[in-house]
Amino acid sequence: MTTRDERREALKAVYEQALGCTRCPHLAETRTRVVFGAGNADADLMFVGEAPGANEDREGVPFVGQAGKLLDRLLVEIGLERGDVFIANVLKCRPPGNRDPAPAEIENCREYLLAQVELIEPRVICTLGNFATRLLRDDPTGISRVHGQPEVLALGSRAVRLYPIYHPAAALYTPSMLDTLREDFARLPALLAEPAPTQPERSDGADTRPRDGVEKPVSDPAPTEDPAPTADPAPTGGAAPTGGAAPTADPAPTGGAAHTADPAPIRGAPPPSGAGVASGSPPDAEAAQPSPDQLGLF
Ligand code: URA
Repeated sequence: MTTRDERREALKAVYEQALGCTRCPHLAETRTRVVFGAGNADADLMFVGEAPGANEDREGVPFVGQAGKLLDRLLVEIGLERGDVFIANVLKCRPPGNRDPAPAEIENCREYLLAQVELIEPRVICTLGNFATRLLRDDPTGISRVHGQPEVLALGSRAVRLYPIYHPAAALYTPSMLDTLREDFARLPALLAEPAPTQPERSDGADTRPRDGVEKPVSDPAPTEDPAPTADPAPTGGAAPTGGAAPTADPAPTGGAAHTADPAPIRGAPPPSGAGVASGSPPDAEAAQPSPDQLGLF
């Protein structure tokens, strides 16, 4: 078991690793900052978006643009604020020009997200839009079909309640989608009030009882050494239905086809020219990363 302090230290170690990550050489070259995630390391509710946009890349903090402002408003409407939740993304680095995350990038970054889930132990993970939803459900079904439908899944060694909703960026310009997003959001307090999902047995004998806010099971969250970037475009996804084996037959189609009918999130406007993060521009090598304290999490 670990204490809150130990959890923060472990999360900091993962943050440090992410800061030096070069698994996706092109993203490592073009990013200004790694956007690890921010919020409460003890949160019961975690949001997973798609990837940093220009604003996030500049600040090193997720969801600081228009979509983030909407997310903040929706949180307030259900009586929460950023400090109550943890916000992360499928990718920790901005894809140049806000292009879609590539399958190999999603796979490279998956370990960081799973480490965050292992350490933070949220009861509910709210996936925002297609990329996070497809990755964590390990299923190609688009957000339009599954939004607002909670399900219990195993992510790594954790059972969590997954709750897909539309990406706030997609709702920014489509009033009907915003209404749906708001309705789905309104169900979050009830979901959070449900008993924590039963945790799977662990072979190492660690205590996997739902945490009482003080202690949590130990896990080894640190991604291993950076592997050589893979050319293999097929990510493996991260989810297995609880009580069942991880799906093996279906390759995870994260970032692949079949999302044309679904809303495409927008990660903010392209950076102003000269901002140093546009494709082909040299990144600001001296850019300081926010400290763990500045991210408000550790
Ligand atoms: N969109 C995302 O998916 N993530 C961010 O951090 C910002 C916008």
